[in-house]
Amino acid sequence: MDEQITEQQLNAAGHLTIGGCDALDLAQEYGTPLVVYDVQQIRQQIRAFKRVFEENNVDYAVSYASKAFAAVAMYQVVAAEGGHTDVVSGGELYTAIKAGFPMANVSFHGNNKSRAELEMAVEHHVGTIMIDNFHEIDLLAAVLEEQNATTDVMLRITPGISAHTNKYIQTGQVDSKFGFDLQSGQADEALAKVLANSRMKMKGLHAHIGSQIFELAGFEGVAKKLVEVAAHWQEKFGYQAQVINVGGGFGIRYVKDDHPLAPEEFVDAIIKAIKKQVAQTGLAMPAIWIEPGRSIAGPAGYNLYTVGSRKDVPGLKPYVTVDGGMGDNIRPALYEAQYETVLARNPRTKTVEHVRLAGKYCESGDILSQDQALPATKPGDVLAMLDTGAYGYSMASNYNRNPRPAVVFAENGKAQVVIKRETFEDLIHLDEPYQQ
Ligand SMILES: Cc1ncc(COP(=O)(O)O)c(C=O)c1O
Repeated sequence: MDEQITEQQLNAAGHLTIGGCDALDLAQEYGTPLVVYDVQQIRQQIRAFKRVFEENNVDYAVSYASKAFAAVAMYQVVAAEGGHTDVVSGGELYTAIKAGFPMANVSFHGNNKSRAELEMAVEHHVGTIMIDNFHEIDLLAAVLEEQNATTDVMLRITPGISAHTNKYIQTGQVDSKFGFDLQSGQADEALAKVLANSRMKMKGLHAHIGSQIFELAGFEGVAKKLVEVAAHWQEKFGYQAQVINVGGGFGIRYVKDDHPLAPEEFVDAIIKAIKKQVAQTGLAMPAIWIEPGRSIAGPAGYNLYTVGSRKDVPGLKPYVTVDGGMGDNIRPALYEAQYETVLARNPRTKTVEHVRLAGKYCESGDILSQDQALPATKPGDVLAMLDTGAYGYSMASNYNRNPRPAVVFAENGKAQVVIKRETFEDLIHLDEPYQQ
């Protein structure tokens, strides 16, 4: 049996269950491809993060990075668990507003927020604007003036730390498009500008070093660096940071060879590193904010697919094709992300072959897994790809004009659709006929 499936996830028939629901029943009722979230798992992870702060006796916010998976229902669950959230676009912000998310607990990120997005954020009293660059300082100043408003802000800095992860999901190294550079003095210049603007209430500083990180060193490094910057700012500007936000990036287990720490263990190390550095610098202890996305949404998500065609060529690894692919999960094609997949009707069956798990999209690169061990499969079998909850549906597309799948939340044996499956009609509803 796949080690990522526990005994408790199997029902009496030996089928995979998700949130207490039989995966085959879910596939039958809602169709495939289908994205299913185990809601308890989302809740448990948020609680685990909160617990580690409470045990360490520090002020905190667990701010779910909603780019991992944004939906009205997801924002509702996060809010119910007392989480904050961060959004990176007007669309995410709109969804959070519609979900009734407490706006004071929203942070707005992004390296090129438009004027309209900033206006929307200020109008809706978004808790914190995470300022990324000089252009944004000017734009925000103009918007605040226009609306005769004030807002809390934090400055995103580039900490100069390269995390050991895929280059497309690294963000903290000096040569990054995000945040103010430290070495050249840009971060100091940004702080001076913000402090000079009475409409901006400077709350603290932020850095995010990347995603799917397994090593503690990067997180401890960024924690130390942020405290150093805070101490420098106190000395140079008399400014005292109330919040240090270390971003997200806690790595999760996708395949057997991944052995990350539990996400909350990364946070424990970060808290300890900040406390240590604060004690050395004599700063007042700030609140610590984290922005986990993947570690909250990822392990809770499953993609269910139905097996269709198969291609066998002597001497080559077979292609087993499912009814989804890069349209519902671009990560394998985009950056060779790996996943484990099991046969939903019996995840315990012995595997008999290694296959390429292919998608149905018209791209040779549409391969969901280059090497998946599977038992014998036949058309109609339901496969469950594990840990797909982060950056899967949220990056979904209509490539080849395929409708995006439905998303279902399952909890305590009950399931409900939280995003409907797109219809063909949905696909053309923005199209206008050409008037010749
Ligand atoms: C600023 C910021 N915070 C948090 C995250 C979430 O990262 P992860 O999903 O790896 O936890 C990201 C991801 O890109 C980010 O850019």
